Amino acid sequence: MRLADVQAPAMPRFTTGIGEFDRVLGGGLVPGSLVLLGGSPGIGKSTLTASALGNLASERKVLYVTGEESPAQVKLRAERLGPAALNVPILAETDLDSVIATIEAGQPDVCVIDSVQTLYAPDLSGAPGSVGQVREVAGRLMRVAKQRDVATVLVGHVTKEGSLAGPRVLEHLVDCVLQFEGERERTYRTLRALKNRFGSTNEVGVFEMRGDGLAEVTDASARFVAEATRAPGSVVLAAMEGTRPMLVEVQALVAPTELVPPRRVANGVDRNRLALILAVLSRHGGLALGSSDVFVSLAGGVRVDEPGADLAIALALASAAKGMPLGADRPLAAFGEIGLTGELRPVAHHERRVSEAEKFGLAPVLAPGDGAPTLRQALRRALAAPAAAEAA
Ligand code: TYD
Ligand code: MG
Repeated sequence: MRLADVQAPAMPRFTTGIGEFDRVLGGGLVPGSLVLLGGSPGIGKSTLTASALGNLASERKVLYVTGEESPAQVKLRAERLGPAALNVPILAETDLDSVIATIEAGQPDVCVIDSVQTLYAPDLSGAPGSVGQVREVAGRLMRVAKQRDVATVLVGHVTKEGSLAGPRVLEHLVDCVLQFEGERERTYRTLRALKNRFGSTNEVGVFEMRGDGLAEVTDASARFVAEATRAPGSVVLAAMEGTRPMLVEVQALVAPTELVPPRRVANGVDRNRLALILAVLSRHGGLALGSSDVFVSLAGGVRVDEPGADLAIALALASAAKGMPLGADRPLAAFGEIGLTGELRPVAHHERRVSEAEKFGLAPVLAPGDGAPTLRQALRRALAAPAAAEAA
């Protein structure tokens, strides 16, 4: 069959009423699709799915299958989330056959399985959560999802080390893999797509856990800028989170140590990237930190995985090492990739990053191609600026 002759009716998506969730999904849940939502325990997977179903329940048929918590526990959570969440029909069941029978009888539009590791297929040996069971459970749920057009969200637990004993084996099977991350003790949580057959994998949603559930953080930049300390070691990074620019504070601490090798601790940025930046700083920036412990972290527990973060990290390190604050009366904003020879390399979405920084009064932004083609020049400019301002 020629592709041109294939009938592909445009499917309306189900919007969950949670803007950040819908955006990461690529515009809402696709009917009949299978979504895997992974994250460590306590991050808020049940909270997110319960509020989504609560919003959907007014217009769609929904079903929440809990294998983990008792109906009373689920109700307690729903009470915190508000009246809509209490309208969601719930099935407390771990037997896969019963779950599928209920789905086939009830024909929901959207179904959440919390969690995929707690269901078991009785005809299969192996404990619930074992690789064989998880595969079988997901495989059979997928068949039902496709046959009956049920948008199905499989919740899966991920251990802290990211070894998805269960869910990893499902990634090829499902249409969409979402990862919910952040630290339980920290305020902000991010939802990102690792795989999406119906949208981009660049989108990131930012949430905050509150007393009444997960709140969307649509003004992440404003918060991070307001919280920026402007102390030595602090730089505002103009990052891109998918299609959206986001300003986030990078903090660095440099402390002399006797330890060999010295400590390198990275929170929210890649460790290997940090090692590379330290090497370039020492070789091309005149800043050797071989006998210092180095800590770098992104404020609020967010994570940025892009080379555009390099320059901000390098500047934060230099500022911390020299004990000099950057930027005169407001935080310094920067972005750009650092090459191995100490040159600054342009990164995508230059204009959008600059305009986001300008929106929050952080112009001028230190970025590649802006009269600072090398790391050394950028360092000189950043470290000279406050002194000049004080002299003036
Ligand atoms: P939960 O959604 O149960 O996490 P997961 O399903 O990923 O294991 O919720 C995680 C934590 O969030 C829980 O420890 C309590 C807290 N929480 C709030 O702070 N506010 C709320 O409104 C809710 C429902 C939970
Ligand atoms: Mg849960």
